[in-house]
Amino acid sequence: MSKQISNFRRKGLVFLTSVLCIGTLIAGFVLAIVAERNAVKMKNTRKTFSTVATEEWANPQFPRLHKTCNTTDVEFLTKTMNDTQTVASYAKEQLLVKGSNDTVYKRWFGDGPLYDVLGVIEGVANMTKMDVLLRCDDVDGLCAANPNYYAGHHRENADAETVICDYFYETRAWISDICSNGTLKEFPPTRYAGIDMIHRYFHVSFINEDEYIGEFTEEAEDVLELAKANSTFAVRNVDNYLYYLADVYSSVHVPGGCLGMEEA
Ligand SMILES: *[C@@H]1O[C@H](CO)[C@@H](O)[C@H](O)[C@H]1NC(C)=O
Ligand SMILES: *[C@@H]1O[C@H](CO)[C@@H](O)[C@H](O)[C@H]1NC(C)=O
Ligand SMILES: *[C@@H]1O[C@H](CO)[C@@H](O)[C@H](O)[C@H]1NC(C)=O
Ligand SMILES: *[C@@H]1O[C@H](CO)[C@@H](O)[C@H](O)[C@H]1NC(C)=O
Ligand SMILES: *[C@@H]1O[C@H](CO)[C@@H](O)[C@H](O)[C@H]1NC(C)=O
Ligand SMILES: *[C@@H]1O[C@H](CO)[C@@H](O)[C@H](O)[C@H]1NC(C)=O
Repeated sequence: MSKQISNFRRKGLVFLTSVLCIGTLIAGFVLAIVAERNAVKMKNTRKTFSTVATEEWANPQFPRLHKTCNTTDVEFLTKTMNDTQTVASYAKEQLLVKGSNDTVYKRWFGDGPLYDVLGVIEGVANMTKMDVLLRCDDVDGLCAANPNYYAGHHRENADAETVICDYFYETRAWISDICSNGTLKEFPPTRYAGIDMIHRYFHVSFINEDEYIGEFTEEAEDVLELAKANSTFAVRNVDNYLYYLADVYSSVHVPGGCLGMEEA
């Protein structure tokens, strides 16, 4: 009797397992077809970084490039992405090693919670950005309307899209040159291509979590003051991140860093 039951159970289990296997196979096929379709759609409409460095940049954590970006633009933007990852991974390392009891951390985040900062850095560096699109065509005419001023802009009517103006290529420096163009006061963080790109990511709603991260204050003095007096918002303010990234990177790569300003 008990043997019969167990036999019955075994058969039931075999049946259930088969159903599950077949179900999984079908689901797999469907997903593969959908993925293939998406890949084709992407291929027809957008460029990726694959023309420059296939494997590394094929990863979805990077934005896609509009077909209007020419070879020179793609090369510059690829180096920019590289700098973005370099700066972010460097900051992450410092946060993990030194925690929040660190001069540079305290300067930009005061007594703000370490886990907020760690999460934001990790997120901005490695959230999937397949849907973020960088374009090089000045589609809204704002680059031309703001010559020698707009290096790029977020598109108000297309949240995931950012236009990069020619002025970006003319004025942005590499992170490896940190401090050689001036102090962080004279040559602020957004003048570094990789850090400026992080600033642009923060304009996209799914990356700023519907303005959880926002531009509450921008001037260096105000940013320092925010860390000191209002750390709840310092860990939510874009420019506190940009200054922290530049400061923490330069502090180790250049003896004494290159802050160039009085602390609040
Ligand atoms: C690519 O476009 C930029 C402007 O965005 C232009 O200055 C440059 O000459 C172009 N390069 C090539 C190879 O067409
Ligand atoms: C990317 O960044 C690394 C440092 O993290 C540097 O060694 C490398 O030369 C960079 N590559 C490019 C193409 O800029
Ligand atoms: C923070 O660092 C200072 C100096 O390195 C040290 O004296 C202090 O005990 C540390 N505080 C905490 C809470 O770890
Ligand atoms: C970024 O996330 C992907 C998974 O989406 C992971 O494979 C990769 O190792 C992560 N990279 C870093 C630098 O953490
Ligand atoms: C920044 O400094 C480097 C090294 O001195 C130089 O090659 C580069 O042209 C400068 N960039 C800007 C935008 O001033
Ligand atoms: C902190 O900063 C935010 C954003 O500027 C502001 O709304 C808030 O009132 C400030 N809080 C305090 C206590 O100053």
